[in-house]
Parts: sequence; structure tokens; C-alpha cells
Amino acid sequence: MFKEEMLKGRAIFITGGGTGLGKSMALRLAGLGAQLFVVGRREEPLRETCEEIRRAGGAAGYAICDVRDYDAVESAASAAVRQFGRIDTLINCAAGNFMARTEKLSPNAFNAVVGIVLNGTFHCTQVFGQRWIAAKQPGNILNIVTTYAAANCGSGFVVPSACAKAGVLAMTTSLAVEWAKYRIRLNAIAPGPFPTEGAWSRLMPSKQFEEHAIEKHPMKRFGRHEELANLAAFLLSDMAEYINGECVVIDGAQWLRGAGEFNDLLVLSESAWEAMEAARVKK
Ligand code: HXC
Ligand code: NAP
Repeated sequence: MFKEEMLKGRAIFITGGGTGLGKSMALRLAGLGAQLFVVGRREEPLRETCEEIRRAGGAAGYAICDVRDYDAVESAASAAVRQFGRIDTLINCAAGNFMARTEKLSPNAFNAVVGIVLNGTFHCTQVFGQRWIAAKQPGNILNIVTTYAAANCGSGFVVPSACAKAGVLAMTTSLAVEWAKYRIRLNAIAPGPFPTEGAWSRLMPSKQFEEHAIEKHPMKRFGRHEELANLAAFLLSDMAEYINGECVVIDGAQWLRGAGEFNDLLVLSESAWEAMEAARVKK
């Protein structure tokens, strides 16, 4: 569906690009011709991502950067612009999350997650937004949120993340309107469960819980990284030029499964349905 050089000429700055879904997006977008600048706190995964991109013939660079630190984001943005001449696309993918009973959380625990997800996204958005506006240059921003933000329902046991991701979604829709006149567009992707070391180690309590999650899933499987990376490629491409302020859920209908009042009827067997249908009194 995608032309090989669909993103040729694009220079993308991605936070959290050294691991998990960020890395998968970075590799895919580089494969479509974009130059990639990846940031995160640990050097090793960033270096590995860049090496993989270069081995495949692409262009990549990285900077160690904690997105909670505005000055560090400024420096990383300058390094990226020095390397590629410009950055035209930002993907806010860095996140922090963990399961906890909210009444046990310390203020620092709440701040750690909100600092990465909400403040970090604002820092990167502001740094590039200001540069693009000053240079009269168009820009493209993609924010990775979660279904519990998109569905406007929140989620117990991940309250700092739910609050922060909802904030990121509000930032996406607000700025899509405010900055459209500068030809800056913003969209979001809300992934359901996609296995990654980062998420699974913090949010999948046991093998049993994982099996339960698959069993309850309407499609009986988790997401595949290439499915999300392809969606990101489309949303960032010129084919999606008129899509602005949108949040696309990619979860195989997982959150809808939990929302519909009668969806638990999925567990009824064929014979149970047949017995009910046979017992129905015809008027
Ligand atoms: C309660 C916790 C905690 C936990 C940390 N804290 N883990 N509290 N339960 N499990 C508290 C600490 O005690 C401390 O508070 C405060 O949080 C800060 O902890 P640090 O370890 O000093 O923070 P830091 O090194 O900045 O690390 C941030 C982090 C960590 C968020 C805590 O997990 C991290 O680096 N995460 C990055 C990667 C990540 O989370 N990936 C998953 C994304 S998945 P005190 O008061 O003791 O000082 C995702 C998708 C969800 O978002 C949907 C899946 C389907
Ligand atoms: P992940 O591999 O843990 O990704 C998180 C990334 O953020 C890491 O590369 C991490 O690198 C970086 N990061 C964390 N704190 C940072 C900070 N302060 N400054 C800079 N970078 C920081 O987990 P993932 O599952 O791929 O998650 C990627 C995105 O998808 C996140 O936004 C997450 O909320 C979202 N998501 C994932 C799922 C899922 O099922 N996997 C579902 C819904 C949404 P360092 O630790 O080196 O800094």
C-alpha cells in the first residue's frame, strides 16, 4: 500500500525511540525514507536503534534526553536540527507507567509519570512548535496515548498515566485548532495492548493475567508492532494531510468489549443460544 520512499525528505524526532513501540515506529518510518532522530534517557537502546536504521541504509541520530527537562529537550532539538538541517515531524512516544493502588501513591510517584507523559509532551511540542512558527515552516505531531484516555473513561490502578494521557489528548485537540493556521497538524494514536518489555514488565502482573487478557479480547490476540507503525506512517504522510485533531484507536475493539453492556454474552455457548431461541414464544 505504501510507496517505498513515501517519507523521503522527512526528518522525524521521536521520544522513546530506543525501545518498544517507539523503536518499531522509528525503524518502519526510516524504511519509508525518513531521517530519524531518537531520544531517551539510556544511551544503549538509542545507539542500537540508530545502528539498525543505518545497517538498513537509513539515516539516524540520537541524543540522551530526559523529556522532563525543558533545557535538555532544547539541546536535543538543536542537535537534531544540526544533524539533518531541520526537523519537520515530532512523535511524542516516551512514557512512564506502573500499576498501583492509588491510595498508596506518593506525590513523587504521581509526578514521575505526569512529568514524563504530560510535561514531557508539552516540552517537545513547545520546543518544535515555536521553531516551526518562527521559521514559517509546517510541522506534524503525533502523540501516542492510550485507549483509556481516548475512550474518556480513565482506568483504575494507573491513575497518573490516565490523568497524563488525557491531558496529552486535550493538548492534541486544542493545538490542532490553535496551530492549524501555522500549518502544524497534530494527531494521536491510542494503542490497545502491544507486547513490549517496558509495558509488560510493569503492567502485566502474571502469565495468567496475560492469558485472561487474550481470552477476553474480541480478536483473541494482542497488537502487532507493524500494525501500529503502519498507522503512524499513514497519519504522518501527505495522504493524511486533512486529518487534524484526530485520535485513532488501534486495539482490535478491546475497549469496546469492556464498554458494551451485553458484550459478556460472548461467553454464551452455541447450545445456550439455541436453547434460548427455541424457548422464545412467537407472537
Ligand atoms: C508505586 C512507584 C512505582 C510503583 C515507582 N514508584 N514505581 N510507586 N508503584 N510500581 C515511585 C517511586 O517510589 C518514587 O516515589 C517515584 O515513583 C519515582 O520513582 P523513580 O524510580 O525514582 O522514577 P524514575 O527513575 O524517574 O522512573 C520513572 C518510572 C519508571 C515511571 C517510575 O517506571 C520508568 O522509568 N518508566 C519508563 C518506561 C515505562 O514506564 N514504560 C511503560 C509504558 S507503557 P518516592 O516517593 O518513593 O520517591 C504505557 C501503556 C499502558 O504507558 C497501556 C498498556 C496496555
Ligand atoms: P517502553 O518501551 O517502555 O517505551 C517508553 C520509552 O520512553 C522508553 O524508550 C524510555 O526510554 C522512554 N522514556 C521514559 N521516560 C523518559 C524520559 N523521562 N525522557 C525521555 N524518554 C523517556 O514502552 P512501550 O510499550 O513501547 O510504550 C511506548 C508508548 O506507547 C508509550 O507512550 C505508551 O504509553 C504507549 N502505549 C503502549 C501500549 C502497549 O501495550 N505497549 C499501550 C498503550 C499505549 P528510557 O527509559 O531510556 O528513557
